[in-house]
Amino acid sequence: GLSAVAPQDLAGRRILITAGGTREPLDPVRFIGNRSSGRQGVALATAAAARGAEVTLVVANLEVEHPASIRVITVGTTAELAEVVAAEAPSHGVVIMAAAVADYRPERVAESKIKKDREGDVLELRLIRNPDILRSLADHRVQGQLIVGFAAETELDDAKLLSLGREKIARKGSDLLVINRVGWTEGFATAHNTISVVDSSGVVAAEATGTKLSVADRILDLVSAR
Ligand code: CTP
Ligand code: CA
Repeated sequence: GLSAVAPQDLAGRRILITAGGTREPLDPVRFIGNRSSGRQGVALATAAAARGAEVTLVVANLEVEHPASIRVITVGTTAELAEVVAAEAPSHGVVIMAAAVADYRPERVAESKIKKDREGDVLELRLIRNPDILRSLADHRVQGQLIVGFAAETELDDAKLLSLGREKIARKGSDLLVINRVGWTEGFATAHNTISVVDSSGVVAAEATGTKLSVADRILDLVSAR
């Protein structure tokens, strides 16, 4: 039958994509995590593979299926994600950090279940900052590598959202930053997304709204052009 064939503009490009959200264990049965479903990252991997790229997808706590034909590496915590990204990044020309990375981890992971009769009415958790994977990718980038970050922001004002994105890309040192509004109802478990992409000089390189797959294709248009 008739089927739409994607342009093979990413043929021969090796693309590393992270998706989902890392989780930090508190004890054997509990974690600190975030609401990322992994949909946008999986859409990126699907679209990139359809356009001929050789994709490695690193997934943390995905809530959706990933295409069976893609090379997938599964992680749980930020430390595990950092380790896999450090090992894989040098052999990929493009790295896209779509994963929502837990910024902090518990200072101590309890060996056995935390019991409330021992803790009383208030439980204090002490959290330690995790390493910034995107930042260190940009700091140790291999020659010619293209690095794409994501920014999850709850800012409602469009102009302020954009300036948060510009500040973030300056801090991170990536080539592109996909700015994504998130909130109680936006961004996470939905099939649609609205994004703007800024480049390292703060210029808006693209804006897109639509299914996560169509948004993925707009992001990959920028990757393809660079
Ligand atoms: N990121 C990362 N390592 C971290 C935290 C975030 O690699 N420890 C990456 C994410 O995958 C994303 C980008 O950095 O591509 C921005 O993540 P975001 O959470 O929006 O920014 P932060 O720098 O963590 O700042 P904040 O959460 O305070 O807004
Ligand atoms: Ca963060």
